[in-house]
Amino acid sequence: ALTGKFSYTLGLIIPNLANPFFGEIAKSVEDRARELGFSVMICSTDYDADREASYFTLLQKKRVDGVIILSGFEDQHTITRNLVKPNMPVALIARDIPTISINSVSIDDFVGGYEAAKHLIGLGHRRMGLIVENIRCAKERVRGFNQALEEHDLQLDESLVLLGEATVPNGKKLALQLLSGDEPPTAIFATNDLLAIGTIQAANEHGLKVPQDVSVIGFDNTMLATITDPPLTTIAQPMEQMGRQIVDLLVQELKGDVTHKQRIVLLPELVVRKSTGLR
Ligand code: RIB
Repeated sequence: ALTGKFSYTLGLIIPNLANPFFGEIAKSVEDRARELGFSVMICSTDYDADREASYFTLLQKKRVDGVIILSGFEDQHTITRNLVKPNMPVALIARDIPTISINSVSIDDFVGGYEAAKHLIGLGHRRMGLIVENIRCAKERVRGFNQALEEHDLQLDESLVLLGEATVPNGKKLALQLLSGDEPPTAIFATNDLLAIGTIQAANEHGLKVPQDVSVIGFDNTMLATITDPPLTTIAQPMEQMGRQIVDLLVQELKGDVTHKQRIVLLPELVVRKSTGLR
């Protein structure tokens, strides 16, 4: 059992509460923490590196027992550099830094991208467009996507791969670019649901029907995927399980029950709804 030296408070740092993916992660972290008798201080950084670093320092000053980080900056930022020798337990969720020894729960992004491509290829699509968030895990999704294409002797047209920030307006802007080209794609893979929703908006604005004229597949399976028109086919991340497991790992570390660090990689899963269809 934990002794009096504990504050029974955990910190959670996420990039942006406006993306329901992060909200759903935060909910599951808090739910599990409360079951184990911990409160959670949630800090949203708005993808600001300085804010991320200062929240980390603040949480340490507030004497939280441990911090769960979903960094907006993957490996580059100071927080992740500091993780190797912090004076309190730190764990990563939905991001993975294979080169350091730290508790983490993430998903196999490569497999997610691979499944997305397999689904579109199965529907007869050959010319695919990609809207990709500019972070490592999204690029892993693209690597998996490419692998499936290669297995079918298909190749991505690099001019149909656009990078940008993961927001709905940005997804819309980039999708409009793809759809108004000379040879537009018949299917678009967006590496998260917000980008995919922007893509559906772009198709509507461009006078195209989803999925008859263009198929759209997202990534995350946030609750938004069920309420778009048409409902979004997407690759589901097990957000609830991810949140629960990272809290369990962190609390085990606090208790000293488990001394070795665990790197848990869960499998994402294709959820077929109505935004993808036969070519
Ligand atoms: O950075 C935002 C994205 O990262 C989420 O939408 C989800 O895909 C996560 O892994």
